[in-house]
Amino acid sequence: MTHAIEVEALCEDYRAKAGASVRALDGVSFAVPRGRIYGLLGPNGAGKSTLVKILGTITAPTAGRAAVLGFDVTREPLAARRQMAVVLQQTAAENLLTVRDNLLVYAYLHGVPRRAAHARMRTVVDEFELGARLRSTVQELSLGTKRRIQVAKIFMLDTPLVILDEATTGMDPLMKRRVMERLRAEARNGRTILMTTQVLSEAEALCDTIMILHRGRAMAAGTLNELRRRAAHTFRVTLTFARADGDLAQRLRALAPTEMKIDGHSAELLFHGEEAELLARLGDFSRTVPIAQFEVRGPTLEEIFVTLVAEPRPEAGA
Ligand SMILES: Nc1ncnc2c1ncn2[C@@H]1O[C@H](COP(=O)(O)OP(=O)(O)OP(=O)(O)O)[C@@H](O)[C@H]1O
Ligand SMILES: [Mg+2]
Repeated sequence: MTHAIEVEALCEDYRAKAGASVRALDGVSFAVPRGRIYGLLGPNGAGKSTLVKILGTITAPTAGRAAVLGFDVTREPLAARRQMAVVLQQTAAENLLTVRDNLLVYAYLHGVPRRAAHARMRTVVDEFELGARLRSTVQELSLGTKRRIQVAKIFMLDTPLVILDEATTGMDPLMKRRVMERLRAEARNGRTILMTTQVLSEAEALCDTIMILHRGRAMAAGTLNELRRRAAHTFRVTLTFARADGDLAQRLRALAPTEMKIDGHSAELLFHGEEAELLARLGDFSRTVPIAQFEVRGPTLEEIFVTLVAEPRPEAGA
């Protein structure tokens, strides 16, 4: 079966001022099987929105190839577009239309018949709590509510692919959770979801596969566990002590953690290095300061992200 998304050696050069160009994507390749929730993470300027715009047939790639449900976005843009509902990072909903008309017009433009569009609208309005604002024009709404309408629109359609570029930005936590639950349900029903987000906990909770993009290149891709293995030299250690002596902080610092937080009788430390060597060091440490409890775990997505995209620090004095 064809993949929902296929991207091969995709490049995008933007023309900048004075004839220079910016390489926003630098040979990105990946494939998303159907029914997956694929997360695209990366710092500002990584190229996430550029990738979304190419898939959405809004920007043409400089080189490489992208296809959705088997339709090439450059050669068959109309067929490709029919496969997806896209929420762009910068889209405004139609400001002068009412909430109701935003939803209906969107469905009509995608060929949903009138009666079906109305029925769908009622469900979506309930779900996204838009009932009270149905007759308001979008320009009167708060930022988070505008965003909610953008996201609500994708549930007016049954396209096999949904693409969201930082869609939950500005939403309150309850609405965010609702959107996440809804996306999960859509994926269970076989829809494929590609989403970019800066909220790593969101990606951690939602995405089957995650790609970390940095300066237009894929730094790593895989399930959360696969990414964990790649960043296997990062450990978070939680220690609990029977008693906390005055010089505890100093003793802990001697273990050379990358980060350290002490809270009463317990301490949380982040280490980079070999696990065996770390355990030996902790063993030595426990002979001088008795440890009541200790826990070592792999990195969170945020720690992996920071490890993969962190700039090498300039040497002191350089
Ligand atoms: N229309 C454009 N013209 C020129 N340069 C652009 C244009 N759009 C994006 N860029 C540049 O391309 C690079 C990638 O931008 P892009 O918007 O894809 O990043 P992003 O990962 O979505 O970032 P953010 O997290 O801030 O949304 C950046 O260096 C950006 O300045
Ligand atoms: Mg962006």
